[in-house]
Amino acid sequence: MYFDYERDTKKYYQNDLIASRYHRLYTASKGLRTFPFRFVARREQRIVGTLLGNVVHRHVLDIPAGTGKLADVFARSGSHVVACDVSSNMLEIAKKEYLRINYANVEYAIADAVNLNHFADATFDVVVCLRLLHRVPPGIRCRMLREFSRVAPFALVSYGIDTAYHNLRERVRNKITGCKPVAKCFCSLAEARREIEPFFEIQRESRIARGVSRELVFSLKSRVGTTQQQAAF
Ligand SMILES: C[S@@+](CC[C@H](N)C(=O)[O-])C[C@H]1O[C@@H](n2cnc3c(N)ncnc32)[C@H](O)[C@@H]1O
Repeated sequence: MYFDYERDTKKYYQNDLIASRYHRLYTASKGLRTFPFRFVARREQRIVGTLLGNVVHRHVLDIPAGTGKLADVFARSGSHVVACDVSSNMLEIAKKEYLRINYANVEYAIADAVNLNHFADATFDVVVCLRLLHRVPPGIRCRMLREFSRVAPFALVSYGIDTAYHNLRERVRNKITGCKPVAKCFCSLAEARREIEPFFEIQRESRIARGVSRELVFSLKSRVGTTQQQAAF
């Protein structure tokens, strides 16, 4: 399986059809095929909502905001949100989502998580990065983590963790559904921790839905200004 970050991650969602399909997968009101996506999305919303409650969350950077999956969560927490993504197609749907729930405390920007130069240090209270890093090669992930640790003192960041169980589960699922395997950038839990450590202190690790998802959300406290980060980069 060949993985191309530009093609499979950055450009993939810059397409109206893909964007609306992604949104439908987790917002469909019924259907067996979309059930796992809806289930995981509800868990993500619940867990991010809970973790957000543990930190100051007046100013939130949601990157990638995608189609606005977390709009309700931020509306409930009363945060000012800057919703960023490289895909204007995804952000257009996110705008409709915020309009639908009538929450106006939000700004939108096209931005690449690798380079957040237009945001000064500690602009936000917390960065939320859901469902991106499992589609990003390790070297680029580290550049993103460095930016997150610079623009906010806290971050909630999800990783896709590689396990034998989930590899087997996906093989069986693909056999049953006829889906082709998709190349992604999963890593072991130990690798994820090693990658994060220079930039953040890990405060908590929360599994989204253990049996059906690889996703794990790290609650992180930035090390900006500490000697460890400066020594590493
Ligand atoms: C699987 S979606 C996740 C969106 C949202 N966080 C969610 O959970 O629904 C991945 C998103 O990452 C965006 N993306 C890809 N590369 C990016 C980058 N370098 N910087 C910011 N966003 C990026 C895509 O456009 C897409 O909207």
